[in-house]
Amino acid sequence: MNSIECRICETPISAFISFGKMPIANGFLLPEHYQNEYFFELSTAFCPNCGMVQIIDQPTPEMMFHEDYAFFSGTSRYMSMHFERFAKSVMQNRLRDKDDPFVVELGSNDGIMLQHFKEAGIRHLGIEPSLNVADAARAKGINTVSEFFNADLAQKIVEEHGCADVVLAANVMCHIPTLPDIAKGMSTLLGPNGLLIFEDPYLGDVIEKTSYDQIYDEHVFVFAAGSVNEAFSRHGFELVHVEPQTTHGGSMRYTLAKKGVMKPSAETLALFKREEQLGLQNPTTFETFRENCERSRDELMALLNDLRAQGKTVAGYGATSKSTTVINYCGITPEHIRYISDTTPTKQNKFTPGVHIPVEPYETFTNNYPDYALLFAWNHKDEIMAKESAFTKSGGKWITYIPKVEIFE
Ligand code: SAH
Ligand code: TMP
Ligand code: ZN
Repeated sequence: MNSIECRICETPISAFISFGKMPIANGFLLPEHYQNEYFFELSTAFCPNCGMVQIIDQPTPEMMFHEDYAFFSGTSRYMSMHFERFAKSVMQNRLRDKDDPFVVELGSNDGIMLQHFKEAGIRHLGIEPSLNVADAARAKGINTVSEFFNADLAQKIVEEHGCADVVLAANVMCHIPTLPDIAKGMSTLLGPNGLLIFEDPYLGDVIEKTSYDQIYDEHVFVFAAGSVNEAFSRHGFELVHVEPQTTHGGSMRYTLAKKGVMKPSAETLALFKREEQLGLQNPTTFETFRENCERSRDELMALLNDLRAQGKTVAGYGATSKSTTVINYCGITPEHIRYISDTTPTKQNKFTPGVHIPVEPYETFTNNYPDYALLFAWNHKDEIMAKESAFTKSGGKWITYIPKVEIFE
């Protein structure tokens, strides 16, 4: 299947790129499960009508988010600080004048952001369908409901708790295929002056950096200001503010209000203009992007094949969900990369989805440095470089592929 109707406006759309057969990006597994591994075709389309970039096929939400979900937000110290700042800015700028405010977060995971609202004594509710990460949040005393957010749940929350003053979502809005239903739910859940504030990887960065690894099963959409405004304006919302973020390799924080309540900020209007200049509404931009992806893949494989021929050892650094796209699209095998080091206990001693490269505890890396480390967690580069000076000092070299394939020390 290489064409569908746009999930936002129902215009027929077809793929501008296929990354081939892909497994579940966070589906780290043991050999006894290889036989039942699920694959789908990962291909991406652009809607010429509403501008939304979206994947064509997506596994069901239940296949990706469940009691054994591999991604714990708290594994990155930098992200913990980021969410503390995010929470504090919401408290200061959006909740200060509210009497007994109520904050809801979608995809609250292990409570990395809501814990700050809890500490401040603010009424809060996390919506987190993946049971294991939700349990981690509940263990910290964070109110969490383990369900998928939708318009029906919004109604139930309002009946039980009243309307929310702010709804937050980080790296989850772009995961939910039924975005129109979510937008409808938001209009129920938020009071007349309520705000929806969410952030996700930004299409402008994906295009500029050729960071095609942001495209994987969970990320059904890659948002831009224009497409977000289109999607939510159909349900009575208006984009009123945008704030670029450095997280996840370049993200955008969007603030939406009910129509007519707030004037769009100068930054919002400037970003609409910039997106026009970047050609984010122009199909030829995506043709160029496809060519850039193919070049990136060919250069990375040439480099890895060359190192293999020289007998160099290469380890992956960070078994990220993004790396599933890179490994499977480029054709990286255990012959190229012996293992991937990762600090997440639930990923360790399993194998990567699709190609089955071993995931090893961090100590495997530090006990016996490889010649090269392929930086799959490139979005955490600053944090990683700060702690890996010993590797570099011992002569270890890094390989990256974002924004271009290169070796650095
Ligand atoms: N906000 C965290 C977690 C992002 S991962 C962070 O930025 O680090 C995405 C999370 O969204 C997962 O924990 C997943 O279980 C959850 N999720 C997926 N679909 C959802 C839905 N429909 N409603 C609420 N949460 C959802
Ligand atoms: P993310 O890119 O989706 O945030 O995932 C990052 C992955 O990288 C996660 O599995 C944890 C791992 N990681 C390390 O192994 N070491 C590190 O220093 C950092 C920051 C992340
Ligand atoms: Zn559309």
